[in-house]
Amino acid sequence: MAETTRRYVDAALSGSGTGPISFEDSVSPEFYELERAAIFKRAWLHMGRVEQIPRTGSYFTREIEVAGTSILVVRDGEGVVRAFHNVCRHRGNKLVWNDFPKDEVDGTCRQFTCKYHGWRYGLDGSLAFVQQEDEFFDLDKDAYGLVPVHCDVWAGFIFINLAEQPEQSLTQFLGPMITALDGYPFDKITERYEFTARNGSNWKLFADAFQEYYHVPGLHSQQVPTAVRNPKKGFECAHFQLDGPHRMTSTGGPRRWTLPPEFMYPIERVTHSGLVGPWESPDLGDTPPGLNPGGIDPWGIDNFQIFPNVEILIYRGWYLLYQYWPTSHNTHRFEGVLCFQPATSARERVEHEVASVVFKEFALQDAGMLDGTQTALEAAYYSAGLHEFVVNDQEILVRHFHKVVGDWVRAYQQAKTEVPA
Ligand code: FES
Ligand SMILES: [Fe+2]
Repeated sequence: MAETTRRYVDAALSGSGTGPISFEDSVSPEFYELERAAIFKRAWLHMGRVEQIPRTGSYFTREIEVAGTSILVVRDGEGVVRAFHNVCRHRGNKLVWNDFPKDEVDGTCRQFTCKYHGWRYGLDGSLAFVQQEDEFFDLDKDAYGLVPVHCDVWAGFIFINLAEQPEQSLTQFLGPMITALDGYPFDKITERYEFTARNGSNWKLFADAFQEYYHVPGLHSQQVPTAVRNPKKGFECAHFQLDGPHRMTSTGGPRRWTLPPEFMYPIERVTHSGLVGPWESPDLGDTPPGLNPGGIDPWGIDNFQIFPNVEILIYRGWYLLYQYWPTSHNTHRFEGVLCFQPATSARERVEHEVASVVFKEFALQDAGMLDGTQTALEAAYYSAGLHEFVVNDQEILVRHFHKVVGDWVRAYQQAKTEVPA
């Protein structure tokens, strides 16, 4: 038997053992139904950034298929960020949408007007106007405001919670590892490039592809030239950390521009931008202690995976957001957003555009595999009798993620079966 290198599981990082793990949570329609209630109706869910709603009346909608709802996020007259179910209280029409009811929209308005019979709602959700109000029967307008959703903001990131009463406040839920990023100047990094992809795989399988770098030499050979690899160990992360349901990993290594030219596209070398973003981003000043918690030098990227479905990947001077929205047990919608400090010159703008395009290529390399993983895993479970798979030491975040998902589902099931005293 080969000698085992165990750096992470033995550091008691996960408490989830070293044995094979099951991916039944990614192929079972029944499990998906449980996840919808146990996770997506209980956890805090990231919706967007405060800069997306800069003024009174600025709003956007989010389609949350996994929770069976559409959410309207708006900045009210007092500057408060609020969230509501996007449904008119008259006869249940979708309140805010443009050409296609399932598309997400954004804009700015003074009031929300229903397309159907013209009821109007204030930015605080109150019912402000009813067409031919006197034809209703003792209508108490105060009782027919939009249905609010718990909404809170951390570091400019807007979160909602669909539980009747969230079990924890947003900051309690995020915990010390994530909130140690407080003070990072996300508010200065506001130039956004957004991508959406509909993928034929369970949402967790794509998240798994960004939770370990064991796959990098295999899948992204162009990204990791031999010179960068430890010849004995392949490519490996420099630091892993867990905190409650959340995870993070840091990479280190030589700066990309010190690599031989054959490991990047000519346009990367010409524009000084590409896979890791602009080579020289404007300085952001002091960074908070939560960044690079392992003190890795030279530091590369921090990837914070906030349970259940959003990741913040912090590079030098810019960051990326990934979010995985389940649409069924074997499909999901992936969102990638690159965020840069606003360009102050044409050259900087080109650097951002090049980084976005190169990002898309590498994300496609990961996404391109997903249908294959999903269909083969389904065959494994339902035809081949394969129910468990081995994961190695540096796949600890994959192990932890699936364990946490299982824990949340079990806790939910248990709470449902407990008879109140
Ligand atoms: S359904 Fe909205 S006004 Fe009638
Ligand atoms: Fe990858």
